[in-house]
Amino acid sequence: MSDRPRLLPLLGTTRHGSRDAMTCLYRCGNACDHPVPNTSDNAYFGDVVNAEVTRRGVVRAGAVGAMVLGFGGAAAGALAGAAPAAAAPATPVAPEAARRAPGRPDVGTGALDFKPIPPNTLDTFVVPNGYDHAVVIRWGDPVLPGAPEFDLHGQSAAAQSKQFGYNNDFVAALPLDRQGRRGLLVVNHEYTNEDLMFPGYTTPDAMTVEQLRVAMAAHGMSVVEIERVGGTGQWRPVERGRRPYNRRVTAHTTKFELTGPAAGSAWLRTAADPRGRVVVGTLNNCAGGVTPWGTVLSGEENFNQYFVGGDAAPAELKPRLARYGINTTARYPGGSRKWERADERFDLAKHPNEAHRFGWIVEIDPYDPDSRPRKHTAMGRFKHEGANVHVARDGHVVAYMGDDERFDYLYKFVSDKKFMKGNSWIARRHNLTLLESGTLYVAQFDQTSADEIDGSGKLPSDGAFDGRGRWIKLVRGNRSYVDGMTADEVLVFTRLAADKVGATKMDRPEEVEVSPATGKVYVALTNNSSRGTGSNPKPDEMNPRTANRHGQIAELVEDRGDNTAETFTWSLPIVCGDPADPSTYYAGYDKSKVSPISCPDNLMFDATGNLWISTDGNALGSNDGLFATAIEGPEKGHLKQFLTVPVGAETCGPFVTDDNRSLFVAVQHPGELTGATVENPASTWPDGDYAKPGVVVTWRLDGGPIGS
Ligand code: FEO
Ligand code: CA
Ligand code: CA
Repeated sequence: MSDRPRLLPLLGTTRHGSRDAMTCLYRCGNACDHPVPNTSDNAYFGDVVNAEVTRRGVVRAGAVGAMVLGFGGAAAGALAGAAPAAAAPATPVAPEAARRAPGRPDVGTGALDFKPIPPNTLDTFVVPNGYDHAVVIRWGDPVLPGAPEFDLHGQSAAAQSKQFGYNNDFVAALPLDRQGRRGLLVVNHEYTNEDLMFPGYTTPDAMTVEQLRVAMAAHGMSVVEIERVGGTGQWRPVERGRRPYNRRVTAHTTKFELTGPAAGSAWLRTAADPRGRVVVGTLNNCAGGVTPWGTVLSGEENFNQYFVGGDAAPAELKPRLARYGINTTARYPGGSRKWERADERFDLAKHPNEAHRFGWIVEIDPYDPDSRPRKHTAMGRFKHEGANVHVARDGHVVAYMGDDERFDYLYKFVSDKKFMKGNSWIARRHNLTLLESGTLYVAQFDQTSADEIDGSGKLPSDGAFDGRGRWIKLVRGNRSYVDGMTADEVLVFTRLAADKVGATKMDRPEEVEVSPATGKVYVALTNNSSRGTGSNPKPDEMNPRTANRHGQIAELVEDRGDNTAETFTWSLPIVCGDPADPSTYYAGYDKSKVSPISCPDNLMFDATGNLWISTDGNALGSNDGLFATAIEGPEKGHLKQFLTVPVGAETCGPFVTDDNRSLFVAVQHPGELTGATVENPASTWPDGDYAKPGVVVTWRLDGGPIGS
């Protein structure tokens, strides 16, 4: 990194998808330039299953899980009393009868009534006619009481620790009252880009220790109290000085409790934490999810790039570090952020177990600003994109999780305990323990048309990319189901465990969402430039294209409509790319009428059951954006583009309130093109000077529901 060329002018050097080289460097530590970390030779496709695929209709699931938190109307989830007192945080109250009730015949069937916006490369935020948008909060805005105004030339770790962090990713907006007037915005700050943060920046080696700590403080999460503007769908932070819920979580100050079977294991003990139970900080928090009990989950993703010294780690650890993308052959591998200069725990030569304390799903309770956030070992350790929880029919909670790396896997966690309904403190205390014990599975997919998959993306003669699949049990509590590995090992080195049982190697599994109405599971598979190249794994029916540039969406229907089931049916409703490209598929819809989409990343369901998809690295020449489609009925596959983000940015979040009247997205890494600096920005969004990541809210001018 220290000898990284500093190129001008701002032409942008596209790499994977159309992501700029600068994004690859800062966000993922150039993950795609490194060898694929999964070198296992697991024969991952089971026997080809044929003719057995049952095409199910809409599976009605989630009766228990119909409890949701929401803004406004009869479905308003709220806080009892909503007393804004940090000492006595209110209890989130969730309605039993949500609008997302199962069994409604029109759920997810479309009627999207906006005119799609065209692909574009404008350095602005574009929404359809009839909609407006506004920045809610941006990098450097005050969050905690006493936070100073942002001073570009006088940044300090103390100030940044009280201000909104950098590169917002996941966004949630949780209700604080029954009237839908106040809420809590909860946001991940995935990573920093020092080129675009510090005037005069040259190299990581030239950064001051204080600047390194600014970067640490700009990571993590923010909780920000927001209020509705008038009666519109717009929201803004409440005025300074009365924000007891506001909170900053950082990479270097916030303590996390490890929970679950692997907490305290030998793999997690360090000199600073000899009991292996408390971790300082969270890293590279990407996507996330809101639980039915009103907490927020956040995935620690490309944590490997923060560590150096892997070459001097104990020999027996090296294969385990390497499987997670940590360089074990050079003392200070390229891509390091040099954080070890400010905190030696990032040097694995001195603290070899420190890396094992990242790569978890973390849970934060935004309603209790004094609560200690937790890292749940029962949910396994990998490059977690995020986690979304669904309450199964029998009350167990199920979390679906992607490991976002080329040729890595899709996972599922099923809790031991059942979700407790109601809004009592007893119920909440119980539900806060649900992710601490359960069973962890990894997915294996069979194919119906294996002999027809040639890497071209041609639809098989049976009319679908589809098949059966199974969830392979890895571990439950202290019992391992993987030969030769203890339960602790399976949880801390989950990738290695999944290699052993024949999990299916996927095209970068990112966000996974469950339709609250149908219980069907949707997986965004972003892309995989290495699929079928060289000695890399060949295309298969789930990942059907060689050198897959545009990605696909998978749909899983669990057997009997039971999200705890161990078998399922799958298909690909959308194979992304230019609709004129014969390798694309839009659920059989007339492709001349769909918006082109590339590199799906985050997924969301709105209150009518339609699926929203945001993109990361659109490889079709347009800025990234947000799209929507019906996912049931004749409009399924009729994808429409709803918004685009400015130059160099990625569309993250997204989050729609339950009254469907406010849509939040995170504009991440605007202006992140190679050669850009603060002084010579590639984007001037949002304020016309230099690029700043920020959260945007979009609403309909006539006050109606977003999209339909
Ligand atoms: Fe941070 Fe997988 O995107
Ligand atoms: Ca098929
Ligand atoms: Ca992502």
